[in-house]
Amino acid sequence: MSATRPRPTAAFVRVFGLPATTLASAPGRVNLIGEHTDYNDGLVLPTAIPQRTSVELALCDDGLVSVYSDELSRDGQPQSYRLGDEARQGDWLDYVRGITWALQQEGWARRLRGLRLHISSQVPVGSGLSSSAALLVSLLRGLRSALALPLSEVELARIARRAEVELVGAPVGIMDQLACALCGPGSALYLDTQSLAMQSVALPPSLDLIVIHSGVVHSHAAGEYRVRREECQQAAALLGVKSLRQLGVVDLATLAKLPEPLVRRVRHVVTENARVEEAVQALQQADGMRLGSLFSASHASLRDDYQVSVPALDRLVQLGEDDPAILGARLTGGGFGGSVVMLARAGESRVAAERIAHRYQVETGHNPTILVP
Ligand code: GLA
Repeated sequence: MSATRPRPTAAFVRVFGLPATTLASAPGRVNLIGEHTDYNDGLVLPTAIPQRTSVELALCDDGLVSVYSDELSRDGQPQSYRLGDEARQGDWLDYVRGITWALQQEGWARRLRGLRLHISSQVPVGSGLSSSAALLVSLLRGLRSALALPLSEVELARIARRAEVELVGAPVGIMDQLACALCGPGSALYLDTQSLAMQSVALPPSLDLIVIHSGVVHSHAAGEYRVRREECQQAAALLGVKSLRQLGVVDLATLAKLPEPLVRRVRHVVTENARVEEAVQALQQADGMRLGSLFSASHASLRDDYQVSVPALDRLVQLGEDDPAILGARLTGGGFGGSVVMLARAGESRVAAERIAHRYQVETGHNPTILVP
């Protein structure tokens, strides 16, 4: 899969009968560590992946938003809705509805009177690599440019999250939107989701990342993601804290008063925040062994305490752990499918990724995709 910046395509003229005026894009992200911490005011450490979502668009004045996606439009036809009529339909177009809705809510859509939009994405849907945030942020970038909106990347991320939470109905944290808006190659974003303090941390040349999509697609708008989030809120209320971020590893001894599974959920969040801090130090010291063992501990915690893994992900992680080139592996993103991130010694990653993906395919019958390197 190549990672190219957007160029005007013939598809836009073919579908809409007019040329695009604006091009924009945003990358997918892989979270190195700090999983299910963002909606608990916690710490995260994502970086960009080479795969991007690109949009091309033209403004119109007929009140219609007409959208064509290379990957998701089924019959080769664009789908349309009327500006101002945005309401959740439970389909992928909700992400676009969410953006035009959120811009109207915030008073930025006065000059938006119609839109033609072509979306093309290299970020696989359901891979845990933020295909949704990449779409939301790329579309906002395109509209910022077309409508000359004075919005920063952080503001774009906030509006993207508003669209996802309030219109799409997925109660996500802020990590993905900020990562897709701010991350670039070669460094990770150390982000405190409580204060929004951020620091760029260079990825040392002695270490390589591997990202493999398990071929098992997740869906976290529904179900378990929401349940985990509610469990965390419930635990915080029972412990009398505003959010689980207020707890540290020293507080774990006092958790006995919580019922199961809340004890496990809190233990994951608290220890994961500590692992993010340690991972930042390990990266700064280019300490691959330490970082690798933090990856492994994070996966174990997500599997046993947070209970968001599935057997396919556990197997892919274990095959990574068993490989001589790999220093540590963990599921990345919300879980219940999606991708695994592994840390490898530089130079060995491509061969190792192919070896691991092959074994995984033979053993499980799932179809893995190597996204990085
Ligand atoms: C999804 C959400 C994020 C975050 C992760 C888990 O990607 O969109 O906000 O909660 O899951 O870390």
